[in-house]
Amino acid sequence: MRPLGPTVLGGLLLAPALLLTGCGDNGAGGPSASGSAIAGEKQEAREPSAIYGRYCVNCHGTGMAGAPMVGPEHRLIWSEEIEEEGFPTLVKIAIEGQNGMPPRGTCFDCSDEEIEATVLYMLKESGAK
Ligand code: HEC
Repeated sequence: MRPLGPTVLGGLLLAPALLLTGCGDNGAGGPSASGSAIAGEKQEAREPSAIYGRYCVNCHGTGMAGAPMVGPEHRLIWSEEIEEEGFPTLVKIAIEGQNGMPPRGTCFDCSDEEIEATVLYMLKESGAK
């Protein structure tokens, strides 16, 4: 007979609260990109910031696996990518994967539109374009 003292439970204190949910400034700016001609299936699209925060930030927030980091200080990297490859290519890579970049950034149930919106979000966060 061994009573479970409160000290045991006290040891369970973890700190998963590092999730940065703080920045809710998400101007309702519609995509200024030229209207994509996709008029088919319509799932409810999730917020690009939410998709980014859930999947992409793991690598793109830290530079893990050589991922280009997101942020204003990395503006030039992204601007170069856009210039050299073009936005549609970046989206294509994000969907199909390339080197350390997994297809759909591991968001396997993300639609192409959601990935595109998320790439746009990353570019905006980095101040490119
Ligand atoms: C497992 C880590 C990882 C995750 C998760 C991840 N990426 Fe990446 N990403 C990478 C790496 C590594 C590269 C660089 C690939 C290369 O060297 O060509 C990259 C490159 C990119 C690029 C630039 C492609 C180019 O031409 O250089 C885009 C755009 C991109 N990722 C979008 C996303 C999006 C959107 C998500 C989330 C839905 C995401 N990534 C999630 C690792 C990741």
